[in-house]
Amino acid sequence: MNPLQDFPLQRLQQCLSPHLWQILTTASHHATEQGWNLYLVGGVVRDILLATPGTLLSIVDVDLVVDRDRDDWDASSEAAANAGVKLAQELQRSYPEARLQIHRKFQTADLSWQESSEFGPLLIDLATARAESYPYPAANPTVVASSIEQDLHRRDFTINAMAICLTSDRAGALLDLFDGQRDLRSRQLRILHPNSFIDDPTRMYRAVRFAVRLGFQLESQTERHLREAIDSGIYEQVKREHSKVPALQTRLKGELKYVLETPTWKSALKRLQDWGALQCIHPSLTLHRSLPAMAVVDRLLKRAASHPEPPKFLQLLGPRWQVLLEILLAQLGDRAAPIATDLQLPSDSIQRLHHLAQDQAELATYLATAHQPSQIFIALNRHDPATLVLLAATSPRPDRHSIWRYLTVLVEVKSPLDGTDLRRLGYKPGQQFRQILEALLGATLDGVINTPAEAKAFLDRHYL
Ligand code: CTP
Repeated sequence: MNPLQDFPLQRLQQCLSPHLWQILTTASHHATEQGWNLYLVGGVVRDILLATPGTLLSIVDVDLVVDRDRDDWDASSEAAANAGVKLAQELQRSYPEARLQIHRKFQTADLSWQESSEFGPLLIDLATARAESYPYPAANPTVVASSIEQDLHRRDFTINAMAICLTSDRAGALLDLFDGQRDLRSRQLRILHPNSFIDDPTRMYRAVRFAVRLGFQLESQTERHLREAIDSGIYEQVKREHSKVPALQTRLKGELKYVLETPTWKSALKRLQDWGALQCIHPSLTLHRSLPAMAVVDRLLKRAASHPEPPKFLQLLGPRWQVLLEILLAQLGDRAAPIATDLQLPSDSIQRLHHLAQDQAELATYLATAHQPSQIFIALNRHDPATLVLLAATSPRPDRHSIWRYLTVLVEVKSPLDGTDLRRLGYKPGQQFRQILEALLGATLDGVINTPAEAKAFLDRHYL
């Protein structure tokens, strides 16, 4: 295999929008002025190679890497480390409408164009070529400026480890050190070295993303390495030994979010379970009980959202992926809240999981004797909608129906007379005033009163 092949720049240009092509040309021009090489890398190169020649791709996320020919590139110098950031600053001068963000800690920068701008939505990430090492498994890697070859070595799969040079006499050269093109043809996901999953378990979750989206399979050795990494117990060990394990905490949450946001989240989770990769979250996590509950809630939420007048409780829930993740974790009982803390879910999410068992027990007791709509209302009114959705997912079917009826119908019911009407009728605000309003609402929920006249008669009967 020749790791350096020609990729006609004309074919590249045909795949990209004229705006993106213009930005890349400008970036190449600035890089050349500095004596740097500029490369298009990662997912964009993969998608360009997968596309039928001539197809215009809708690209919103571009990764660019800068390096310099080895003889005059002191990779350990600050100038080398800052090359990516400096190029981003230069590029922003050419496109002042783009927003520049510099991530000093990682020595990277990105430029973003809003959807409303003629170039947007677009995010261009710029970095100096880096080599990386992991201080311990699942840690954040330590990076040092390096060459494009080293930069490709640190990547997840062969299909994501290719680069197209955009500058100098190598413009149009395709760097494919690991035969990524072969794996694109045979639709395989292959890691670059046996320790890849030990270094970074989020790669399992990235694998499922590409497997489901592109219809690729894990190459057999890669699957063996994945299972070995899981079976070694290394992830539990590093969690015990280190308080900060980003690839099993924040970064894992990021990948879970990605998986749960896709329409194919069920098959993605099933595949993760088949590989044993759910164990990265917790060794005893399975889909057995949670998946049906997640699917039911997902369906109910979608149905409620598609209603011409969607119920108000939908606005009070967290994002859908987070609702689904809470349901998945709920099966872990008293270990759910610590895992949610590890994953750095929001504090209300952690609290919900922490109190779930107690809330479930109370709910079962209250609902056992609640038959009238007003009784169901009183039983459920003490909880916020997000807790009720989690309770619905984890309760037996009759209770789930009661909760859903409460959220979609009962909370929307209004008494025919409100506080203003009561004052007009001569009732004085005070403790009894509240009781009267509650009684009116209860009677409305139970269908005893429907009109202001019936409500007035109800008041005359009970509160004169
Ligand atoms: N990458 C990696 N390991 C990770 C994350 C990212 O090697 N844990 C590299 C891959 O080369 C990847 C590139 O960084 O292609 C960009 O990452 P990202 O934008 O997350 O992935 P894409 O491949 O662009 O995937 P998508 O098309 O889903 O955005």
